[in-house]
Amino acid sequence: MDKLKKILVCTGGGDCPGLNAVIRGIVKRASAAEGYEVWGSYEAFKGIMDDPPRLVKLDAAAVAGIHVRGGTIIKTTNKGNPMAFPVVDDSGQTRVENRVPWLVQRIKDLGFHALINIGGDGSQAISQALHEAGLPVIGVPKTIDNDLSSTDFTFGFQTAVQTASDSFDRLVTTASSHHRVMIMEVMGRDAGWIALYTAISGGAEVCLIPEIPYRVESVIARIQERYREGRGFANVVVAEGAHPQGGSVTATEGELGRHSVRLGGVAYTLADSLRRGGLEADIRETVLGHTQRGGSPIAFDRVLASVFGVRAFELVLAQKWGEMVVYKNNAFDSVALTEVLSSPNNVNPSGTLVEAARGLGISFGDE
Ligand code: F6P
Repeated sequence: MDKLKKILVCTGGGDCPGLNAVIRGIVKRASAAEGYEVWGSYEAFKGIMDDPPRLVKLDAAAVAGIHVRGGTIIKTTNKGNPMAFPVVDDSGQTRVENRVPWLVQRIKDLGFHALINIGGDGSQAISQALHEAGLPVIGVPKTIDNDLSSTDFTFGFQTAVQTASDSFDRLVTTASSHHRVMIMEVMGRDAGWIALYTAISGGAEVCLIPEIPYRVESVIARIQERYREGRGFANVVVAEGAHPQGGSVTATEGELGRHSVRLGGVAYTLADSLRRGGLEADIRETVLGHTQRGGSPIAFDRVLASVFGVRAFELVLAQKWGEMVVYKNNAFDSVALTEVLSSPNNVNPSGTLVEAARGLGISFGDE
């Protein structure tokens, strides 16, 4: 028999419900193919860059039943991007260097035939760089933010929406009891998908998203209207990347080796603005944070992630290097990573979903 072909699997960037289901899908499909072994690198590329490398063989026993579990059995990190790897020089200064050629050689030297990289936009940019440097790579789209283009959904998004929606429902009953304005902040980075889906699902009065900068006066007007209607409480969903017209996002400093600043706290910024703008209601803020990334994937994401895993391995068999599995128009397919990376998937401010939300009485704070 020919020599076994070893396939390396990495999970990079923020974790996401469904990662384990993808890993299991890859391993199950590989075991049906014969002649392949699947290995995982701990903490994305860190495991393979470490000396000695930290790798684990992913066989049937290792993946049994993991599709229902949150997180990733091979761990992850959003630090140590090989395209801008932080190194401390002799003078103690930290700078970044391109480790991609070295990493490609390292993966080949360790006997791997190909890489399946499960990750969001940052991870898929690394996939493309590795592919251009000569490594056979297949991408799998992961992120609760749903901001990768060429696919209708990334796995993890629907679970995050479900988590946010459940929390929203709880905030509605307490808002109602106290006649309060509840502001709930959700994740999503520069995309308002989680906020938009949650606002429609929960029945919010106001939904603020990065794609539609808001005016504080407009938000206040919608809340006051709601109180005038006699309902006596209001629920606002705000995406972490939302910002006022002409204003900036609420964020802390970026970190070396990471591709973006850390967003968070806009619920508090907004509450302050509403108070200063003269809204007399009692306001409370809830920041859902990483609860949206944790826990077991809902059934939709288990299915999406499992099929992505199977399809990713089939792309290995078909040698469709430099491509990513996608789910588009109710069908599974694959597209070139260059196409995926050419633009992000943001909410269309004049698209049907936003129009429908407006039809449901949801204000985007831009009227
Ligand atoms: O990209 C996924 C995401 O959860 C974003 O929604 C959020 O801005 C970011 O990751 C948080 O990253 P970290 O876990 O590093 O704080």
